[in-house]
Amino acid sequence: MILVTGGAGYIGSHYVLEERARHRDVLVLDDLSRGHREAVLDAPLVTANLNDRRALDELFTAHPIEAVVHFAAFTYVGESVAQPARYYRNNVAGTLTLLEAMRDHGVRVLVFSSSCATYGQPEYVPLDERHAQRPISPYGETKFATERMIEAFGNAYGLRYALLRYFNAAGADAEGRIGELHEPETHLIPLILQVASGRRESLQVFGTDYPTPDGTCIRDYIHVEDLVAAHSLALERLMGGAAQGIYNLGTENGHSVCDVIDAARRITGRRVRVEETARRPGDPARLVASAALARSELGWRPKHDLGDSVSSAWRWEQGRRYGAR
Ligand SMILES: NC(=O)c1ccc[n+]([C@@H]2O[C@H](COP(=O)([O-])OP(=O)(O)OC[C@H]3O[C@@H](n4cnc5c(N)ncnc54)[C@H](O)[C@@H]3O)[C@@H](O)[C@H]2O)c1
Repeated sequence: MILVTGGAGYIGSHYVLEERARHRDVLVLDDLSRGHREAVLDAPLVTANLNDRRALDELFTAHPIEAVVHFAAFTYVGESVAQPARYYRNNVAGTLTLLEAMRDHGVRVLVFSSSCATYGQPEYVPLDERHAQRPISPYGETKFATERMIEAFGNAYGLRYALLRYFNAAGADAEGRIGELHEPETHLIPLILQVASGRRESLQVFGTDYPTPDGTCIRDYIHVEDLVAAHSLALERLMGGAAQGIYNLGTENGHSVCDVIDAARRITGRRVRVEETARRPGDPARLVASAALARSELGWRPKHDLGDSVSSAWRWEQGRRYGAR
């Protein structure tokens, strides 16, 4: 059985759906602080916080957990600047509690959701895994600190682990059963689609004077189903005995904010009102992955492009959002 922390969140719920489609036994741990009960569908859910050691002990005692896929974290850069203590407690201390419980219950395999935010300002693009890690937000720092903690548990206690550094997750389940719903939403594609559907007045574009062809920031949008596939491959590799792996997960293609708006206008056939505003401090001009290592070591091949991400997110936006059924 696989324990999926944060399985009621955006990416975690897609992972749960995929593993269940492959007839794998999963158990979700989520405190529902940011997730949605509906996103778990009918998978078993334990509603508890990572920092609740007693709940973890009960769970590891009651269930034959072989591996943990660990998505649970707070994920807002801006909020992490305003409330760093909350971020360190949730993301770093929460993972420490989880790792200690895993060690004490003999669970030796972990897949961890890390982020390209651990790299900070890129010195070169595409970013590979050897790029220096100098995060520029408390959120990025919590992911960086957690990576180091996991490595130390690997060295000291034989934990086998994969650190997966995602670029920008995007898109939704092809059948529209689950999708992205953050509150508040900060991710570009759902924000654009909320404007297209009339839920939101306009889209703020932060900075149009970056050194990119159209002046807007460039990011690497990786479809959530491709992300999820990389987790399954990384887990298989660890279960097969691999000691560790560190992988960037991105498409290796960059798209500017204007490219994404154009794609959304084309796919939805709707108007998207745009409001140009100043740059946000700390936003790099260009973040694009080199995913060569995930390709060669995991055999991972992303199948979806930006159009698939926008069209699946649009299906989701148009009516299957939680609470709107
Ligand atoms: N979305 C992205 O583009 C992106 C990019 C890079 C990395 N990540 C990482 O991927 C992971 C999942 O991101 P997401 O977008 O699905 O976020 P999300 O907020 O949708 O999901 C996180 C889930 O974890 C739960 N959770 C948070 N803290 C918890 C705790 N202490 N105990 C129990 N449950 C807790 C929340 O309730 C939520 O359901 C996060 O670790 C995030 O940092 C996401």
